[in-house]
Amino acid sequence: MAEIRPILWSDGQLHLLDQTRLPLEQVTLKLDGYQQVVDAIREMRVRGAPAIGVTAAYAMALASRQIQASGLGEFLDMLGEAASRIAAARPTAVNLQWAVQRMLQVAHAQTDRSRMDQCLLEEAQLIQKEDEEINRRMGDYGKELLPDGGAVLTHCNTGALATSGYGTALGVIRAGWEAGRRFDVYNTETRPFLQGARLTSWEFQQLGIPATLIVDSAAGMLMARGQISCVITGADRVAANGDTANKVGTYTLAVLAQENGIPFYVAAPTSTIDLNLPTGEDIEIEERPPEEVTHFQGAPTAPVGIAALNPAFDVTPHRYISAIVSEGGVARPPYQESLMLAVRAGGGDRHSTWQIEKQQ
Ligand code: MRU
Repeated sequence: MAEIRPILWSDGQLHLLDQTRLPLEQVTLKLDGYQQVVDAIREMRVRGAPAIGVTAAYAMALASRQIQASGLGEFLDMLGEAASRIAAARPTAVNLQWAVQRMLQVAHAQTDRSRMDQCLLEEAQLIQKEDEEINRRMGDYGKELLPDGGAVLTHCNTGALATSGYGTALGVIRAGWEAGRRFDVYNTETRPFLQGARLTSWEFQQLGIPATLIVDSAAGMLMARGQISCVITGADRVAANGDTANKVGTYTLAVLAQENGIPFYVAAPTSTIDLNLPTGEDIEIEERPPEEVTHFQGAPTAPVGIAALNPAFDVTPHRYISAIVSEGGVARPPYQESLMLAVRAGGGDRHSTWQIEKQQ
């Protein structure tokens, strides 16, 4: 299967596949300043929780190269300021803050300024490498949940484009397909930014997995007709009790799935699990510009002057979620305990250690 590489470090620059231009054009942005990376995240040229975490780590490496400071203390202060700007680029996906914190920890452990740039670059590259490995492990666990026959429904884009490679929920679908399971795939358009129509459809085509695009509001009808065997989505933040923030519309799908007796699964790396947050109530939901609702690519799709509300995410209460797959295994309710175990089992590497330390 063709591999999609949305994030590449080359010749001292961060190369990002501009996701606002897909599927019509494949344009690569070459960025060498951290503020450019912040803008790219905010404008959703790179998006998806794990992908913005990896990109943020590279933004920290670029910031280190840009900072002119008289000593290590001043350098760390200035890096801290850059970190705050990077972490604030988008509020909901915890991976962004997770990656920035991990990079800051590495910077504070380095006492030699002349080695700092290389050290931070290597850490960003490690985060990127780990992310793809984690996705493949998650795929291995998650594929067992998928049917042989029947149909899987997914929402938004959770594939290679949303990560360093392979994907979370889409990675699970891919792993099932690679293991020889055969099922139909339905993917939602994902209004208003059309991550599903533009990006997931394109990824399935690249992978050679047949998929059928539906409008978001057709999902209920398909479920009621018995045409969906399970639903699987990604996540931007999972609270300690399993409440999950993901692309707006996920909550609707989960409620419909329960109403129709269909399992609803979430696939997310442990870097998306926020054990510091007891419930989903405190997850900050990003509000995007109303123009994303009233316009498409600059052309109006609604009358001038209409008010529009554009929450980018919603929170699905844990009671609607049948299982949460991470690289630490398949967590089932009650999530309070199973997610903690999943984070611990997530490899025993720095990735999961950070989460456990955070909780203590
Ligand atoms: O606004 P986006 O496109 O960044 O939202 C992406 C999602 O909601 C994904 O489902 C989530 O990040 C999981 S991605 C692997």
